[in-house]
Amino acid sequence: MPWHPLTRRNINLSLTLGWGALAFCGVAALAVVQDFLAPKVGREPRKVWRVGRVAEFTAPGMVYERFKRTPAGEPGFWIVNLAPAQPHLVALSTVCTHLGCIPDWLKADAKFKCPCHGSGFHLTGVNFEGPAPRPLERYGISRDADGYVVVDMTRVFRQELGQCDNRESYLMIG
Ligand code: FES
Repeated sequence: MPWHPLTRRNINLSLTLGWGALAFCGVAALAVVQDFLAPKVGREPRKVWRVGRVAEFTAPGMVYERFKRTPAGEPGFWIVNLAPAQPHLVALSTVCTHLGCIPDWLKADAKFKCPCHGSGFHLTGVNFEGPAPRPLERYGISRDADGYVVVDMTRVFRQELGQCDNRESYLMIG
């Protein structure tokens, strides 16, 4: 490869290319750091849902399945009407407490049945068969100022820890 004479033009060209490359790397590094530090709020899956009016969930013993998965395909919840045993609506997590599969609601058997290893859960979410070690979790449920039922998946209540006496874990109906 021939040597180029060290002219002022060559020096200027080298400097320009060098500074350009450095600037490019700097901008790229800045973008990476900014992306790392930026709040991830917009990317978090949505956790609070306005699911409908109370009047849409009034059938005793009914399991409402349309929120079983979120629109993004994440595990969601069942809205369960516990009447007549209890005049309560609850939001049961659809995540099996064994290894995290999504059970099915078997209406004829009145139970949730996990397809993975056979765990069964009563309407209340309490486990009664299979390897699941504890009941399905419940999410926060409330009624907003406009009369809509709101489920807050950031609020988790565990029956086996006595947390389902908490007023935020159920919604009084009737
Ligand atoms: S994941 Fe549900 S029984 Fe194992």
